[in-house]
Amino acid sequence: MSHSIADNPDFPDRYFRSALGRFPSGVTIVTAEHPDTHAPLGMTISSFSSVSLQPPMVLWTLTQGAASRPALLTLERYVIHVLSASQIHLARRFARGSHSERFEGLALGRAPNGTLMLEDPRCSAWFECHNSQHHDAGDHTIFVGQVEHCHYQPKAPLIYHAGDFDLTPASEPLSRN
Ligand SMILES: Cc1cc2nc3c(=O)[nH]c(=O)nc-3n(C[C@H](O)[C@H](O)[C@H](O)COP(=O)(O)O)c2cc1C
Repeated sequence: MSHSIADNPDFPDRYFRSALGRFPSGVTIVTAEHPDTHAPLGMTISSFSSVSLQPPMVLWTLTQGAASRPALLTLERYVIHVLSASQIHLARRFARGSHSERFEGLALGRAPNGTLMLEDPRCSAWFECHNSQHHDAGDHTIFVGQVEHCHYQPKAPLIYHAGDFDLTPASEPLSRN
């Protein structure tokens, strides 16, 4: 059987992760409700990206091992919250523990179409999405959301870079070249 180049990369996993980490990203929290139990679901996600303006679409990717994956594949809508620099504690909280612990003591609200969301005035933006498409790709699933409502306000962003939160954007002088 022949192997493609992609099956036999000439670099180790850790090197690949470190190379990917050179790309800085923002940080989001995706919230939804379990379709059967209505328990809140939420996790920290940095793989968010815009996809289409017309119609408005975004994407994010979820590891196939995520406990919430079966529920997320079937529920109707979710809200993606873009975090500001002052919400670093939430980014950490929504990446560990049980889903119920993640929501403990937090104010919750509803987006216009009824989707469970964080009621936190520090978010830079939020998008209420219809859970429209899923595509399995390697060890992740790509979720494509059709944006039904969104809101934003100017806030300093929370940035994730080189495997850590980056609250001090580089202040190197701009190159003249
Ligand atoms: C800054 C940051 C970004 C993350 N981005 C992602 C991501 O894009 N996709 C993903 O599957 N997990 C991501 N994670 C890990 C998930 O938040 C974590 O594994 C979560 O527990 C998954 O949900 P689960 O409890 O349903 O398994 C990220 C964690 C951190 C701290």
